[in-house]
Order: sequence, then C-alpha cells, then structure tokens
Amino acid sequence: MAISIQSKGFDMSNLTVSDVGVERFNKDHQRLLFYIEEFTRLSARFRLRTPFPDEWDQMDGIFVRLEKYTRVHFKEEEQAMAKRGYPTLPDHHAQHQQLINVLADLRIKVKRREFQAIGAVKLFLQEWITNHINHTDTQYGPYFKTETSRLSPPGPSELLHRSNSI
Ligand SMILES: [Fe+2]
Ligand SMILES: [Fe+2]
Repeated sequence: MAISIQSKGFDMSNLTVSDVGVERFNKDHQRLLFYIEEFTRLSARFRLRTPFPDEWDQMDGIFVRLEKYTRVHFKEEEQAMAKRGYPTLPDHHAQHQQLINVLADLRIKVKRREFQAIGAVKLFLQEWITNHINHTDTQYGPYFKTETSRLSPPGPSELLHRSNSI
C-alpha cells in the first residue's frame, strides 16, 4: 500500500510515499504531504509572475505549519524508536536534524521574499519527504510489529485461532 493524496487538476504522483507499517506515522506522513501539496499548488502560479504580498504571506503560513508538524512528527518517531531500542536511531536522528535545518533555511529564503528560490524550495520539499520516508522510515516497520497488529483488525488466521481456543 502506498500513501498518496488526490489533488484536483494537479499531478501529484511524485508525492506518493510508502506505507511504513505504523498507522499513526502513515497519517503524519499524509499530513506532511498535504502541506507540501499546498505549497506546490501555490508555487505553480509563479512561473510567469512574482507573488503578490498576500501570497508570500501564505507561503510563510505553510512553512510555519510544515515546520511545526515536522518537528512534532520527528520527535514522536524518535521517542517510539528509543522505546524499542531501534539500532540505527542515531543515524535516523541525524537525518531528521539535517532536514529540520534545511527547512529552517528555506523558511528564511521565503521570508526574505527570494523569488528565484521558490522552484528549489518546492523541489526540496517534494524530494526530502519521499526520500526520507521511502528509504529510511520504511526500515523501522518490523520494530513496531506489536503496535501495528494492535491497530489492525485481526486477520482470518487470528480469528480461527481464537475460536479454537474458546
Ligand atoms: Fe517519518
Ligand atoms: Fe523519520
């Protein structure tokens, strides 16, 4: 199963990410995708003209939400990994930290109204989320097996096992 979003009139197929095996983190990822889609849709207007002041303000607003939610999500992933003694947590944490730093740099570019940077900002947002989720987050799935099965409905074999044990 892949996580993606539908966007009317926009091809968002490059914003499809893998299922990481943990329901609550899949939901977080989808929410991050929504913010990035919002930025992508807005930035499409600026191929031929510079943004109006209120459009710059809208971009600032997207960044505030994106950065805030990214920090919350990263922290929750790291806490959950720490609880389970996830072996590559230090590397994962370092990637998160790097992404947070780049996001902060991009926010400043938008705040400085750097029109030339908008395309690069959009590309970075689209690439970092898909790369990080597809290549790094997908590795923690097996460590969250108990949590995953608690959230999923019981499968047919589990039901059969239960009825046998009654
Ligand atoms: Fe994640
Ligand atoms: Fe992560």
